[in-house]
Amino acid sequence: MDFDLVVRNGIIVTASEILQPGLDIGIQAGKIICIGAGLPATANTEVLDAEGAYITPGGVDSHVHLAQANAPTGDGWETGTRSAVAGGTTTIIAFASQEKTDESLFPVLDEYDKTSKDQSYCDYSYHFILTNPTTKILTEELPVLFRERGISSVKLYMTYELMKVSDRQVLEILFTCKRLGMTTMIHAESHDMISFIIEGLERNRNTEPYFHAIARPRIAEDEASYRAISLAELADAPMLIVHMSSEIALGHVREAQGRLLPIHAETCPQYLFLLSENLKAVEHDHFHGAKHVCSPPLRHDPADLEGLWRNVANGTVTTFSSDHAPSKYYPEGGKRLGLVDGIPRFAKIPNGLPGLETRLPLLFNQTPACRPEGKARLSLPRFVQLASTNAAKLYGLDGRKGSIAPGYDADLIIWHAGNTGARTIHQKDLHHDIDYTPYEGMEVGNWPRYTVLRGTVVWDQGKGVVGKMEYGQWLKRGRGEVLVGRTGNLPRGMLPEERGYWM
Ligand SMILES: *[C@@H]1O[C@H](CO)[C@@H](O)[C@H](O)[C@H]1NC(C)=O
Repeated sequence: MDFDLVVRNGIIVTASEILQPGLDIGIQAGKIICIGAGLPATANTEVLDAEGAYITPGGVDSHVHLAQANAPTGDGWETGTRSAVAGGTTTIIAFASQEKTDESLFPVLDEYDKTSKDQSYCDYSYHFILTNPTTKILTEELPVLFRERGISSVKLYMTYELMKVSDRQVLEILFTCKRLGMTTMIHAESHDMISFIIEGLERNRNTEPYFHAIARPRIAEDEASYRAISLAELADAPMLIVHMSSEIALGHVREAQGRLLPIHAETCPQYLFLLSENLKAVEHDHFHGAKHVCSPPLRHDPADLEGLWRNVANGTVTTFSSDHAPSKYYPEGGKRLGLVDGIPRFAKIPNGLPGLETRLPLLFNQTPACRPEGKARLSLPRFVQLASTNAAKLYGLDGRKGSIAPGYDADLIIWHAGNTGARTIHQKDLHHDIDYTPYEGMEVGNWPRYTVLRGTVVWDQGKGVVGKMEYGQWLKRGRGEVLVGRTGNLPRGMLPEERGYWM
């Protein structure tokens, strides 16, 4: 067998197990061909020595905003995906976003395709954000988008004036997606609670960045999460609630999962590592907290972080993504849009944090690979599920992405051996095009030494980003899997024949 690349001497971790040390990975034409001991290398074979380090699947980040009109100073494709590979992520799913005035999704997708084409260091796809789900879009366009363009997921917002859909529209979309085999993602926060509170805060001139966290209390997420779950239950549709920050809201998810409803949850690094006190930061000026404005907001109590960690560790949370949605702090049009005539107005600060590059090192740092016995928050296989496998399965990329197994794309992270990869996170070392990181100064026990995408090294910590920008491929996705529960459930109290009367 003539391999293009053999990766030797690593400890391979999959979503279910840690393989014995010393196995090699044989790669040909970008795919994993076999895993075994002492694989042969010919004159044409490149050999990469993992030196006993862990090898995990290339990261799949299923929640990334790049080059969207509502964040003009955010990352574009080149800089965003460059930072992805530098942090071990080999696949991202970004967003194409309908505006309420867009009557067809096809021109929107074409426009987004144009910005990403030949501009990506990693492989990629899009979820479609629906803001105006007309009958034509639901019945005529979504089936074609799925079949011909491989867009097998949509995202909805229950909040934000320009984005939000009504509960009635959520239902229509859930029913449609269920029928088509598409996955529905939902941003669950109560719009009316939030807009009511914002009005009061502004009336009382409480408009500094910190009040962003006051404007969107946990109860707004708890209530909307329960409402979203109820809508999905009525539609008997699989759903994922994005960026969950509240243990009570996750309790609703767990309760639904316990009834075998196909309700998935996502969380993000910011809700596991950062607290609302960051919004008060006054190191440089009174507006500095704007750097930590995201929605849902950072929560108040360290107990919130601990509660989330437990849900991450034990499987209630299905995916862990960055929600990379940054705006620069200093330049015009970024976070400072929230400084109006020198007066802070939190409600005008663009939402979102950078995090594509730091996502995996921060999570890996919580595994036994970086922590002494008994201090790890999650196992290595659980890390792999959260970093790659679950998102690949949920969004229709299984069989290609998210695992180290024959037939899969040879997407790998080769970590540093032992504790030789420890590093402190500094903005100056990152590859995004944003002027800060919310994780400045945090220490992590390891960092990807190599990132391999389809058998090619694209990140080598010794040399930097060595991949080529146009190497990233667009991914046509298939039907996603249901990872928790199943469809075919009857809402509590409903008679078996009941849906038939109105469906
Ligand atoms: C996961 O952890 C949460 C928080 O401690 C707990 O409420 C929940 O019951 C746990 N779920 C499972 C499946 O163990």
